[in-house]
Amino acid sequence: MDQELFKRLGGEKTFTTIASVFYQRVSKDPVLHEMYPEEDLGPAEERLRLFLIQYWGGPSEYQELRGHPRLRMRHAPFKVNPKAKQHWLKAMREAVDAAKLSEADDALVWDYFERAALAMVNTFED
Ligand code: HEM
Repeated sequence: MDQELFKRLGGEKTFTTIASVFYQRVSKDPVLHEMYPEEDLGPAEERLRLFLIQYWGGPSEYQELRGHPRLRMRHAPFKVNPKAKQHWLKAMREAVDAAKLSEADDALVWDYFERAALAMVNTFED
């Protein structure tokens, strides 16, 4: 992604809002919350925030801190089944709503999240 797109989407502010609202939802969703190994969701929120900033064309701080994203591999320790995916997308829908993007940008970002969430599913077990 390029810097033009990053700017058009609202820059860091947009992804800070998305990560923040997403993790507020996670903390209230038992299905998601119990999957997180750390009691404090703050560090996970920061990882998601930096990843999204980098993915959408902003600074590549995520890479500096965490290395190559390899998201499927990083999710391998967690049971990402269709139910978890459904809860993840529900929380993310509210997060993207909070960012108040234009209709076209909302569709672009949402399409990405739907495809990425589908790709993250790694089991069909309960
Ligand atoms: C489909 C349902 C998904 C579930 C249930 C899920 C769950 C999790 C869990 C439990 C973690 C570990 C928390 C942490 O310590 O960081 C995590 C990490 C992460 N997830 Fe997901 N995730 C899902 C989909 C996605 C998608 C679609 C993306 C990206 C668009 C994503 C991005 C990330 C990132 C960036 C991290 C931190 C990776 C790192 O260690 O640097 N996740 N996820």
